[in-house]
Amino acid sequence: MSDYVIYYGTFVHSLSLSELDIISQGVLVIDNKKGTIVHLERNVNDFEDFLFSHQSWGENAKIHKLGPEQFLIPGFVDTHAHAPQYMFAGSGMDLQLLEWLDTYVFPCESDFKDTDHAARAYEAVVRRFIKNGTTTCSWFATIHVESCKRLVDILHQLGQRAYVGKVNMDQNAPDYYIEKTEDSIRDTEAFIQYVQAQQGLVTPVITPRFAITCSSKLLNALGELADRYQVPIQSHLCENPDEISFTCSLFKDSKDYTSVYDDHGLLTERSYMAHCVHMTDDEIDLLIRKRVGISHCANSNFSLHSGICDVRRMLERGVDKLGLGTDVAGGFQPSMLDAIRSSFFASKTCKILARDRDGNKDYAPLSPAELLYLATMGGARVLGLEETIGNFQVGKAFDALWVDLEGGSVDLMGGETILQKVQKFLFNGSSENLKHVYVQGKRIAGADKDSY
Ligand code: GUN
Ligand code: FE
Repeated sequence: MSDYVIYYGTFVHSLSLSELDIISQGVLVIDNKKGTIVHLERNVNDFEDFLFSHQSWGENAKIHKLGPEQFLIPGFVDTHAHAPQYMFAGSGMDLQLLEWLDTYVFPCESDFKDTDHAARAYEAVVRRFIKNGTTTCSWFATIHVESCKRLVDILHQLGQRAYVGKVNMDQNAPDYYIEKTEDSIRDTEAFIQYVQAQQGLVTPVITPRFAITCSSKLLNALGELADRYQVPIQSHLCENPDEISFTCSLFKDSKDYTSVYDDHGLLTERSYMAHCVHMTDDEIDLLIRKRVGISHCANSNFSLHSGICDVRRMLERGVDKLGLGTDVAGGFQPSMLDAIRSSFFASKTCKILARDRDGNKDYAPLSPAELLYLATMGGARVLGLEETIGNFQVGKAFDALWVDLEGGSVDLMGGETILQKVQKFLFNGSSENLKHVYVQGKRIAGADKDSY
């Protein structure tokens, strides 16, 4: 194994929401053992000269030169997906949230008591996500601790960076898919210990399904576990009007839905919440104050007709931890390219509503550069991984996609700028355009069938 891997070509990554950095004639040097970026340079006209003058890298490096229709971007970060629900992804989209959970989700998830069934499904879904360029994913599993462990094992084998949550639910759930409070707490702790005992790229995450299916006692205990083990917390928040009114009727002592989580110690700087479609200004401000991240799940919000999350409003109010989620299978596509496109449409819908309903012509929809940020660096921030992944800053892990626009579903017609090529990939590209997918410097997938 060579000590270093050196890439030479075009790299595109986000420095911030508004700054897309396009690096031409770039050199990226990766420490092959650690899988981290040790050097990034732009405008290197003479690559041979670069190698000559950096012999300590060049002499024991594997060299990859990217072609003119190729570029590297950071791997995609999916901040919210349900691994078991991939079973029925692309079907069962006729209902809204609470009926959909009863009709499709709970029967499907209860089958994951069978660990062999779970392992088969989990291998398929993780493979699919990786193939589509999701190098980091925050997963909901099910209530079954042994099956959750199988998901963790599969993630280790397949090489995806991941957060995994054993789902908690001890009330308002069918009798075939519910846990006793004490069992739920005990199994969650056992799961955290199982994951933390391993050296790897998987992190356990406390995962109350949502307030409706969790008693006060359970929510408090989960907050304590998150604190004791210093682990992240994920859940659903303000997704659907019926869900919100049911939640508020269950937790009458709390001011609003967001406060229910806060009142149980579940809003920390390591927490992130999916959807946040129907939020008052006070609720958004509470998330900002507590440094809670938001996972924007646009496909799901359309598919379950939950509503349209106004991301621009969140950003302008001061939310600075916001990423995208596929929410498979409330969202039907296991791909962050789709999350980008769905978020684009959601944002354009906000623009149309602002114009037609409010007479506001100034509303700024999300730009492609902002969408790419949200799908990479934004997601990294939501998961507290901003020092580890999200762009090509020196010191970070090399989690990346080698995009190749030749072949596949994109046609280059000649004369496109690099920015246009990136946009063509975001809007017309597919897994066929991902020649290589890397996590922590290691190639874990890619459309290029040739050996690497
Ligand atoms: N709220 C509680 N559970 C779920 C779920 O599985 N999917 C979605 N979209 N929302 C939820
Ligand atoms: Fe969800």
